[in-house]
Amino acid sequence: MGIGQEVVERCRRLATHSEEPGVITRTFLSEPMHCVHADMRAWMEQAGMSVQVDPAGNLRGYYDGARPDAPKLIVGSHLDTVPHAGAFDGILGVVLGVALVKALGGRRLGFGIEIVGFSEEEGVRFGFPFIGSHALMGSLDDVMLARRDVHGVSVADAIRAFGLDPAAIGDARACGATLGYLEFHIEQGPVLESLNIPLGVVTSIAGQSRLEVRFDGKANHAGTTPMNLRRDALAGAAEWIGAVERVAATVPSLVATVGKIETQPGAGNVIAGSVRMSLDVRHTKDDVRAGAVKHLLDSAQEIAARRALTASSELRLDQAAVAMDARLIEMLGCAVRDGGYPEHRMHSGAGHDAMVMAERVPAVMLFLRSPGGLSHHPDEAVLESDVAAALATGLNFIEQLERVNG
Ligand code: HGY
Ligand code: MN
Ligand code: MN
Repeated sequence: MGIGQEVVERCRRLATHSEEPGVITRTFLSEPMHCVHADMRAWMEQAGMSVQVDPAGNLRGYYDGARPDAPKLIVGSHLDTVPHAGAFDGILGVVLGVALVKALGGRRLGFGIEIVGFSEEEGVRFGFPFIGSHALMGSLDDVMLARRDVHGVSVADAIRAFGLDPAAIGDARACGATLGYLEFHIEQGPVLESLNIPLGVVTSIAGQSRLEVRFDGKANHAGTTPMNLRRDALAGAAEWIGAVERVAATVPSLVATVGKIETQPGAGNVIAGSVRMSLDVRHTKDDVRAGAVKHLLDSAQEIAARRALTASSELRLDQAAVAMDARLIEMLGCAVRDGGYPEHRMHSGAGHDAMVMAERVPAVMLFLRSPGGLSHHPDEAVLESDVAAALATGLNFIEQLERVNG
């Protein structure tokens, strides 16, 4: 079996570990994550790694360098998913990392390699992302640990329920000298496919704002309340969602999304008294993103005032745009060319753990083509030949690091 096929088959096996039968849904430290850890642990140990789960639920495999005091390269991505996800977002980066170590065949380098399967990157369960990578970088704080999901379960409770100790969260912090962080990830967009090339070297990652926006009015009877006497929170929200789309369309490269909406009391014969929505705004320039968020919140206030509603919002994430490390970009670009593949440098509209890792560690990402430009969807895919190309590039990258650190 070719390496591309083995990696894809392993990703598809991990995809069977889901909170919901028939679809792929795996949020922070939910029950199926135990099965993912069991499979990954076996593959990591077969590749010659020692394996542990840290207090944030990150799965961490370590491949020793030639010397005990050797620095390390971290290769990772996330093991959680969005609801009804595809089989490769995040997962591919961890499985490919294990394949990279396996391909070394026991050879010892001037540096160690740590493969990290982050416990949470998507932000689905608690409304903010990057729990695992924040813990690795030592930036998972008490406010984050106290954040609660829709059932009132806190991050710390979820860590305990998984059999881990949140009081030891500091032990998750990466220690020792780190040469850099490399993340393999599907592009999740149409660019590489449109150029008909397999790989992309990521130069920067868009900043993102995530908020919860509420409209409150007055619930009332749908049959007896005249249209001019209503304070309909859902009608106000609908007008605002249209404004979000219109504003985003006028600002080059800005994207703004309302992806989730909940109404109360949520009955067809009751005028909605309140509505809670998600707002996701992204741009490569932080000032443009901040200006767009302000414009959209001002628009919510204007609509609410006109409809005798109230509008409120809570900021859940303000993640600045991040540049990847210039030296590692050059090395990765050279590794791509050494493999005989065309080098294409590109920006990422999707967020990634590399954004958090870059706070303390030189970080770089390698994108693999997304057939159909599709992601966060069950039909998300990756080509086995592109997986083989990414692995060859990763080995070239390691050889360059070895020449410098061997
Ligand atoms: O939402 C994102 O950008 C990523 O998929 N977490
Ligand atoms: Mn994702
Ligand atoms: Mn991802």
